[in-house]
Amino acid sequence: MSTVTTVEKLADHVGESVTLKGWIYNKSGKGKLAFVQLRDGSGICQCVVLKNQVSEELFEAISEAGQESSLELTGVVSADERAPGGFEVKVSEGAVHQSVEGYPITPKEHGTDFLHNHRHLWMRSRRQWAILRVRDAVITALRRFFDERGFICVDSPVFTPNACEGTSTLFEVPYFDRTAYLTQSGQLYAEAAALALGKVYTFGPTFRAEKSKTRRHLTEFWMLEPEVAYAELEDVMQLAEDMLVAVVAEVLERRRNELEVLERDLSKLEAIQSPFPRLSYDEASAILQEHPESEFVHGEDFGAPDETILSERFDRPVLIHRYPKEVKAFYMKRDPEDDSKCLCVDVLGSEGVGEIIGGSQREDDLDVLLERIQAHELPEEAFQWYLDLRRYGSVPHGGFGLGLERTVAWICGIPHVREASPFPRMMTRLEP
Ligand code: 4AD
Ligand code: MG
Repeated sequence: MSTVTTVEKLADHVGESVTLKGWIYNKSGKGKLAFVQLRDGSGICQCVVLKNQVSEELFEAISEAGQESSLELTGVVSADERAPGGFEVKVSEGAVHQSVEGYPITPKEHGTDFLHNHRHLWMRSRRQWAILRVRDAVITALRRFFDERGFICVDSPVFTPNACEGTSTLFEVPYFDRTAYLTQSGQLYAEAAALALGKVYTFGPTFRAEKSKTRRHLTEFWMLEPEVAYAELEDVMQLAEDMLVAVVAEVLERRRNELEVLERDLSKLEAIQSPFPRLSYDEASAILQEHPESEFVHGEDFGAPDETILSERFDRPVLIHRYPKEVKAFYMKRDPEDDSKCLCVDVLGSEGVGEIIGGSQREDDLDVLLERIQAHELPEEAFQWYLDLRRYGSVPHGGFGLGLERTVAWICGIPHVREASPFPRMMTRLEP
């Protein structure tokens, strides 16, 4: 009798006979011996096949099966420190389900474009497997963090009638006899929900028609957006910090093996502890102006190189608050202490990673918000429902948006956000 199990559960079955169902990740050996690296989605395990221990047909079938052939193997599990993953299966029985020849992705080097064109297969590779498992753990940790703090998940629509984050990056979609836009952010809906439910978050795909080909931009990405009634900027900043500390700690605990596959320097992640450094925009600006390599002009938004310079100064994420109102969105509340600034915060990841979070306290005064909508030349009519939130029981409130792929890329230590998405969408990529 053998138990059907998975590679990640092998520790529970040492000395027992188990069946693993998966694919050939790699194969070696010769003559009367074959080593099969069996991959089953949960991990990779070395399976040893001795010619005189299995049927002739099985040995023959395994000898002929190429990379990514599907198969199941049965045998006794032993703990073996030399084996990758720490366990080995001595095969007694099994079957090759589909014998494959000519799998396009081989252990040799391939170009980036080739790999992205084969994303549907590339995701089987060990590094990509590790990244997708880290992404999963980040999502679970985020949801757990908000759930434990009493936040209610309220999903926002993908089809929207108007812009949230400026009109230049909208994707238009024909919508019966009118035009709809793919959502850039669920924030405006999250604000409505916060005034109904107190503490909420939205989490879903968002879209930006960004004509930029940087390593930080996708046209479709996932954003998690908490929004809290009666929260002020200080509360928003503390929430963002607590969330990042909790998420990194949980990923370190649940996905240590995957981070090791990615050769991530774990000490850099272990350093992500409270308190995070905080700089005002003016303080950050002064740092950049003294930096020989920065071309930063005071009053403008930070460019990617500026963000890199700032975040490289610290061993943990840095919160930059109170940007000039001109470079930020219409809904942000003005700083009562300095009318040229708004009560907003960007969080830059550590190790030179750029912005991973953008948030603010929201303008809660009806007249000021109306004036802001007009100044930004936004269609007033489309914002009437949003203005209702300032007509009926307006309160201070705020929140932020966390970009999932940028966060995953930062935690994994990978330079480009596209690998943090299972099927990335960019200006130049719609396939597969
Ligand atoms: O700073 P952003 O534009 O903020 C908002 O959309 C607010 N409405 C959020 C809020 O307050 N509820 O975007 C938030 C985050 C960024 O910090 C970044 O991590 C990510 O979303 N992001 C992108 N990620 C990948 N590709 C893009 N093109 C992105 N644009 C923004
Ligand atoms: Mg931003």
